[in-house]
Amino acid sequence: MKSIKKITCIGAGYVGGPTMSVIAQKNPNVEVTVVDVNTARIAGWNDENLDNLPVYEPGLDGVVGEARGRNLFFSTDVDKAIDEADMIFISVNTPTKTYGKGKGQAADLKYIELCARQIAAVAKSDKIVVEKSTLPVRTAEALKSILDNTGNGVNFHILSNPEFLAEGTAVTDLHNPDRVLIGGENAEAIEALVQVYEAWVPRERILTTNLWSSELSKLVANAFLAQRVSSINAISELCEVTGANVDEVSRAIGHDSRIGAKFLKASVGFGGSCFQKDILNLVYIARSYNLTAVADYWEQVIILNDHQKVRFAENIIKTLYNTVNGKNIAFLGWAFKKDTNDTRESAAIYVADHLLDEEANVIVYDPKVPAEQIYKDLDYLGTRSPEENRRLVRVVNDPYEALSGAHAAAVLTEWDEFKDYDWAKIKETMKRPSFVFDGRKLLGRTELEELGFIYYAIGE
Ligand code: NAD
Ligand code: UDX
Repeated sequence: MKSIKKITCIGAGYVGGPTMSVIAQKNPNVEVTVVDVNTARIAGWNDENLDNLPVYEPGLDGVVGEARGRNLFFSTDVDKAIDEADMIFISVNTPTKTYGKGKGQAADLKYIELCARQIAAVAKSDKIVVEKSTLPVRTAEALKSILDNTGNGVNFHILSNPEFLAEGTAVTDLHNPDRVLIGGENAEAIEALVQVYEAWVPRERILTTNLWSSELSKLVANAFLAQRVSSINAISELCEVTGANVDEVSRAIGHDSRIGAKFLKASVGFGGSCFQKDILNLVYIARSYNLTAVADYWEQVIILNDHQKVRFAENIIKTLYNTVNGKNIAFLGWAFKKDTNDTRESAAIYVADHLLDEEANVIVYDPKVPAEQIYKDLDYLGTRSPEENRRLVRVVNDPYEALSGAHAAAVLTEWDEFKDYDWAKIKETMKRPSFVFDGRKLLGRTELEELGFIYYAIGE
């Protein structure tokens, strides 16, 4: 197989954008074009001002700045990019279905299929097609069926190359991955993709498997990670009633090298575009093979996570004398984790929704999430009218303004800056008694209690 000269990636989102930027950075002799139907997104990727990239990730501006215009291009001309490429990554969204069979569980594969059909229609030369999106096991079979039946004599090889980056650390994860996973049937096609990654990833960290193992491993990796968070969150509730401290329990068990220390941080609940979607998908697949015990086992990870979000909101209501009606609750953070502007499935959305049902006034400050996104997230739930959401929720650009006059502060995202605020000054401006509900175990209990706050943290 000749070495790859031109790569196209369909989908310029949180995965396609950063992943291709790093591939281009590390392979200056390969031309990489990222295409998307979303013109605003492509305009953002092409913005002269690197602060305006559509995805916020520490270090991404430097990578894009280095490669863009040299061998990294962003475009809306999908057909042209397909036509010219030797290798095409598909990195489009695969959300949970909101209609029809599998609604609320199965992955919606319409965008993937559209890409396959477009590739089939446009390609005039042989291509390697790489699944970068997270997909149900055996999706490659459907892609193959579409691509092998064009009748135009073009040969396609399909590879699975799931992405394991985490948001907020995407650039360091891409620069230094624990492993790169490539699944496929054709040795030459696999080797062509191995060569792209070998530009910076040591060979022993590039794992190759068959297609189905690769597709399934991605769902399983996310399920295992999320399961750890739900496991420690389940223990956090037990800690609260027994006097144990969940951080101490995490430290104690995490020192066991068989358990390991990572992903044991109790929280208000995991969010993000991947964990819930991928577990629901795993549950759906297991059920579709009649593996009821398997499906029930993994579903419990989601049930516990939902419970944790509700529990956090209910504790706020209970502690504020069983009513939050007309009370000001200042939210510190809206993103699903720190160092990202992504809010998909963020716990903050659900906690806010619960408090708004009780007619609380929610004032939100997040360093990276704009007001329109916060309203969009709440409107999307459909719990109340957009007017009602705007009446009850105020978004501010200054954390001190959010906290001034608040009955309680709720920490929903673990942004580092929250630790550095002048909490003594904040105490002066908040209503008394002044409550802090720390959903991230970020702030120091001793310091806040010394200042006179009433401090609640998950798992204490
Ligand atoms: P995203 O929504 O940010 O980006 C997807 C992009 O694809 C959108 O900009 C959309 O306009 C574009 N698109 C959809 N259909 C298209 C088409 N037919 N032609 C051109 N463009 C099209 O999604 P994302 O977060 O980048 O996730 C992409 C995939 O990667 C998903 O399968 C996801 O599960 C997986 N993944 C995501 C993460 C993550 O951290 N976000 C990590 C690993 C894997
Ligand atoms: C996840 C996977 O980590 C990544 O490998 C995959 O490619 C995409 O899905 P992401 O969702 O971006 O990445 O972030 P992650 O760091 O996994 O955090 C997910 C959620 O779990 C966040 O809401 C985070 O705050 C929460 N979390 C994580 C905890 O509550 N406790 C922990 O110990 C770890």
